[in-house]
Order: sequence, then C-alpha cells, then structure tokens
Amino acid sequence: MTLAIIGGTGLTSLPGLEIDRREMVHTPFGEPSGPLTHGHLNDQRVIFLARHGYGHTIPPHGINYRANIWALHQTGATKVLAVAAVGGISPELGPGQLGAPDQIIDYTWGRANTFFDQDLERVTHVDFTHPYDARLRGRLLEAAERCGVAMVDGGCYGATQGPRLETAAEIRRLRNDGCDMVGMTGMPEAVLARELELPYASCAVVANWAAGINDDEPISMAAIEEILKTGMGNVRAVLGALINSL
Ligand code: HPA
Repeated sequence: MTLAIIGGTGLTSLPGLEIDRREMVHTPFGEPSGPLTHGHLNDQRVIFLARHGYGHTIPPHGINYRANIWALHQTGATKVLAVAAVGGISPELGPGQLGAPDQIIDYTWGRANTFFDQDLERVTHVDFTHPYDARLRGRLLEAAERCGVAMVDGGCYGATQGPRLETAAEIRRLRNDGCDMVGMTGMPEAVLARELELPYASCAVVANWAAGINDDEPISMAAIEEILKTGMGNVRAVLGALINSL
C-alpha cells in the first residue's frame, strides 16, 4: 500500500515527511505539476504532489490532471488522498472547517477529463455513482476523530472552472443544485483516479464562505490564506493519523 497525497492551496509541502527522493515523471499526457516527492511519514511510504506546482503557479484550469494521476499511478500509488481548499455553502461548513465530501457535481468545462479518448478498442464508461472511495473516506473520518479534529461527514462538492471566484447568483444556483461546498480542482481529478481504479477521497478545507453566503463582503485572498494556515495544521494532524491506520 502506498498512499499518494495531492496537496492543494495552502499545502505545497508536507512537514514531517522524510524525503527519500524527488522524481520527475514523463507521461503520455505531458508533465505533471512538478516532481513527485517520495518519502516516509510515520514510517509509511508516501508520495506527495503539489497540485498547483511547488511554487503555487499553476491555476486550476491549467493543471494537467491526467499527467498528475497517471504519474502517481505509474510510480506505485495505490490510494490517493486529495486535499482541497473550498468555499463553504452549507451552514456547517464555515471557514476553517474540514469535510469529507461524498458527492460531486461537475461544472468545469474544456478540461481533458478522460484517459479513454484515443486508441480505443471499445468505448468505456466508468461507474461514477459514488465518486469517492467509501473505505478511504471512512478511514479519513476515523483518523480525524482519533486526533480530535472535527470533520463533516459527506456533502456535495461543486467543481467550478475558476480561476475567478463565483458570483452570488452562481452560488445560489449551486446551493439549489444541492452543493454543500465549492472548489475548482475536484474534477476531473476524481474521475481520472476512478478510470485508473485508484481509490480516491478528498479532505476539503473550507477557506471562506462561498460568494454571497454570509454577507456581501468581497472574498479576499489574504483572508483565505490566513484561514488556510490554521486549517492545514489540522489537515496535517489528520494525515498523520490516516497514514498510521492504512
Ligand atoms: N470558490 C471556489 N473555489 C474555492 C473557493 C470558493 O469560494 N474557496 C476556495 N476555493
């Protein structure tokens, strides 16, 4: 078992990770966001990848999701835990809160979202009824509980295109659709992992109230970064506990 951790905004490195080596992987789909970091966390093998690049320079729509997932799979990852900053829509998902979503609605467009589009022997439709792996999601929730970090169990992740934040009307629409949180990177990451049969779960970290949810105040990057600093401290604790349980 080798866990891959994809770090998002606020998590470009993994403190406590004993780094063995970094590896640049070339895939048939191009280059991943950066070299993969192979290391050990609590004596367990971990592969870490910063989704936006180690300097946080790749915007959500510019990420080569196929190369990232392919590279993790090719180098031996057997499970993928994605960490992702989100805007909170449901009342229980306020800034700083962690959540383990169990559903997705995909509003992104124009992203390369399948491995099954060339050299096909037959058309393939993967089952995506439950987009997150139930066992890994369960382990994540148990890990949070063990280290005393509150984590909301379930919720629908609305994946938007970005890089701009949403309008208040767009968030009203997402809420009416049943979204509990909104982020820009959950898709096609989740479906690509499914296509390669890699169990995938997400640890969402609420950075801000989604547009127009709490008041009409503009959402500032400074406020988001401040909240994420605290939120990611909790994520690191949960990841440590998760590794121990796998
Ligand atoms: N919307 C979309 N993505 C996000 C947000 C948001 O409000 N906050 C953090 N990632």
